[in-house]
Amino acid sequence: MTEKVVWTPASWRARQVLQGPAYPDQGALAAVEAKLAKYPPLVFAGEARRLRDALAKAANGQAFVLQGGDCAESYGDFTANVIRDTFRVLLQMAVVLTFGASVPVVKMGRMAGQFAKPRSSDTETIGGVTLPSYRGDIINGPEFTSAARIPDPARMETGYFQSAGTLNLLRAFAGGGYADLHEVHRWNLDFAARSPLAARYQDIASRIDETLAFMSACGVGTLNTPQMRETEFYTSHEALLLPYEQALTRIDSTSGAPYACSAHFLWVGDRTRQIDGAHVEFLRGVHNPIGLKVGPTMTPDELLRLIDVLNPENEAGRLTLISRMGAGRVQAALPPLLRAVHRAGCKVVWLCDPMHGNTVTTAAKVKTRNFDSILAEVRGFFDAHAGEGSWAGGVHVEMTGQEVTECVGGAHRLTEADLGNRYETFCDPRLNAEQSLELAFLVAAELKARRAPGRGQAVAAQ
Ligand code: PEP
Ligand code: CO
Repeated sequence: MTEKVVWTPASWRARQVLQGPAYPDQGALAAVEAKLAKYPPLVFAGEARRLRDALAKAANGQAFVLQGGDCAESYGDFTANVIRDTFRVLLQMAVVLTFGASVPVVKMGRMAGQFAKPRSSDTETIGGVTLPSYRGDIINGPEFTSAARIPDPARMETGYFQSAGTLNLLRAFAGGGYADLHEVHRWNLDFAARSPLAARYQDIASRIDETLAFMSACGVGTLNTPQMRETEFYTSHEALLLPYEQALTRIDSTSGAPYACSAHFLWVGDRTRQIDGAHVEFLRGVHNPIGLKVGPTMTPDELLRLIDVLNPENEAGRLTLISRMGAGRVQAALPPLLRAVHRAGCKVVWLCDPMHGNTVTTAAKVKTRNFDSILAEVRGFFDAHAGEGSWAGGVHVEMTGQEVTECVGGAHRLTEADLGNRYETFCDPRLNAEQSLELAFLVAAELKARRAPGRGQAVAAQ
């Protein structure tokens, strides 16, 4: 067990930093850190607290969470259209999931700061040439040249400003009429009509339609109900690049507590979750709601020890566990963890990340994921929760609003041969706009069926 040392925004520096870039110019790094430390925070502590309250509801079985966005945001894709399209698909998914789960949906984008990537190998070899791996735009460049792959601290400043620009647009969209429920539903009707699986989706789409018409007849409409035209949307990313996270940590003037002000929600990845490592040390001290990826190598004991370090006061909403087992492993690996957490009385949100345990490489050496495996992992996640009487709190997906061809399957039956058409990700393969919505419709149908009388109740407030 780790000894309790006093936490400071810099106490992670005394721990081992896995996946950290080796900056050749430490002076340049220190200069950027000093600059960022003076810049305004990107989010406010009060917003992070609001998200924490919303997540507390999910921990209690009274809300469902949708977290999604790019695997890695790219500096080259920093355009209004890309941001708008991802935001739009997330809203479309949220409406469908709200209907399926019959509880509010908490919306978090892997957006406005999801720039740093852990890599399984420190180097990449192409045609006999070996270079340092690409670690995300906030660290180095994706181009396969030795110059691009040198970690450059100046990229952190670009990341800050790009996050600020993205957040600004997201805030405008969320509060400025773009999130109008009727509009979002109209987009869904369009989708349902165009899909090869139209009949399957039409049912839910028309039931939402009827509900909206009923509400309007009762006098609940856009003009008198702000919830119908505005939404709360939060930002999140993996807290991987600790010099950046430390530089953006601020003491909240209301509570006196430290908050990581680079995003509302930060998580620690499956490769950097060592209990005595730097990333866990940093996250344990900030008061934001935080996440912990839980992969197939996690044991119940290890998980309970991590929960104790990350959420010692056992506050609902503080800690979200993001399960990413793989479709073939979720059934065996998840129940013992759910049981241990439940028995220990830990108040956590459980999300299903059906992406990271289902990555495969094709014969042509292209990384992809199969839509059916993704859906199978989500189903296995719901089954495991139903078996343990705990609340399946939401989903975490890598997706985009663009019509890319990175994951195979789905209603349009993308095949490995289609992957070359629009394979644009700089890291992991994402669901495209249609596949994302399909997933939401299928998950909603699943949730509805599980809530139907006689099917047993998957909900048990912890
Ligand atoms: C990610 O979410 O992009 C990621 C790298 O996940 P994991 O840490 O679960 O592998
Ligand atoms: Co990823």
